[in-house]
Amino acid sequence: MLCSTVHVNASSPYDVLIAGGLLGKIGSLIKSALDPLPRQVGIVCDENVGALFFDKVSSALNSNGIEAFRVDVPCGEYAKRLSVVERIYDALASHSVSRSDALIALGGGSAGDAAGFAAATYLRGIRLVQAPTTLLAQIDSSIGGKTAVDCDFGKNLVGAFHQPSLVVSDTDALSSLDARNIRSGLGEAVKYGCIADPALFDSLSDVKDINKLVSECAAIKARYVEADERDMGVRRELNFGHTIGHAVEAASGFELLHGEAVAIGMAAAARLGEKLGITERGTSERIERLLINTGLDPSVKYRSEAKSYIAHDKKYSNGYVDMVFLERIGSAVIKRVSVGTIITEVL
Ligand code: GLY
Repeated sequence: MLCSTVHVNASSPYDVLIAGGLLGKIGSLIKSALDPLPRQVGIVCDENVGALFFDKVSSALNSNGIEAFRVDVPCGEYAKRLSVVERIYDALASHSVSRSDALIALGGGSAGDAAGFAAATYLRGIRLVQAPTTLLAQIDSSIGGKTAVDCDFGKNLVGAFHQPSLVVSDTDALSSLDARNIRSGLGEAVKYGCIADPALFDSLSDVKDINKLVSECAAIKARYVEADERDMGVRRELNFGHTIGHAVEAASGFELLHGEAVAIGMAAAARLGEKLGITERGTSERIERLLINTGLDPSVKYRSEAKSYIAHDKKYSNGYVDMVFLERIGSAVIKRVSVGTIITEVL
């Protein structure tokens, strides 16, 4: 098995392992990476992911002397509620999980965020292994230690930084995804090309090797995390496409998948950047062409709902937002713009 390893030199360093077939080996991988070896782990997953992968993961753990139990969470964004995290705590407590045990987040970004927040806070922190099974989670959310839940006052506004001890990205798991989910993940890959890597950007019009793609994106993410683990500076470039993307995503009532919304946000940010003289002319056209080629639709949708969402977003209450623009493909810059400008020029 050819396995790529991306090392993340964060405050507590860890490896991201990328290859097909890794979930069936997760017991021995944890044995090599986690010292002391956990006696037991809780596996947080939703019912779809659980049906596909729980047995494989738990038997790989059992055969390495690690007991496993399953903690079910709702599918998608519904996993990211404090009430769900409380249910995870209850499951951990009922199995007498101690600080030398661990939690595995098995699934997409939402399960990862909820499991991560539970791991960050249960007993003031237990170890977390991320086992992402979506493209979006493999290239982004499983790396870098961001964990969060949604509250009535906003999405992702309660959370903690809690770096995983290991990330196990089994690219065979991606074959369980439908084409729409893969396209959504590709939206985030386009983002990495836009902000950091023109060669990656060019290669995305014809992806031949998914392991290579996941490894390249993971390596870019690792560099950002190492440079700015607490998200106070350059890591914020990873939000390219997210200011408008989040507004459109929320305005759609989460009908749009995250990567679909980010695709809209990236094209819109590039067009706005060109209008404001920040972005090299022609950039938005290149991004739109790539997105369409990838099967993503960059045209702005849910305009009026997005307008009121962005105008009332508590994060932007002073009327300004730090937004990521491109100078050109491969080079990002953060500029403060007024919400009014975004609404007038984009929405
Ligand atoms: N997903 C953006 C970040 O981890 O900073």
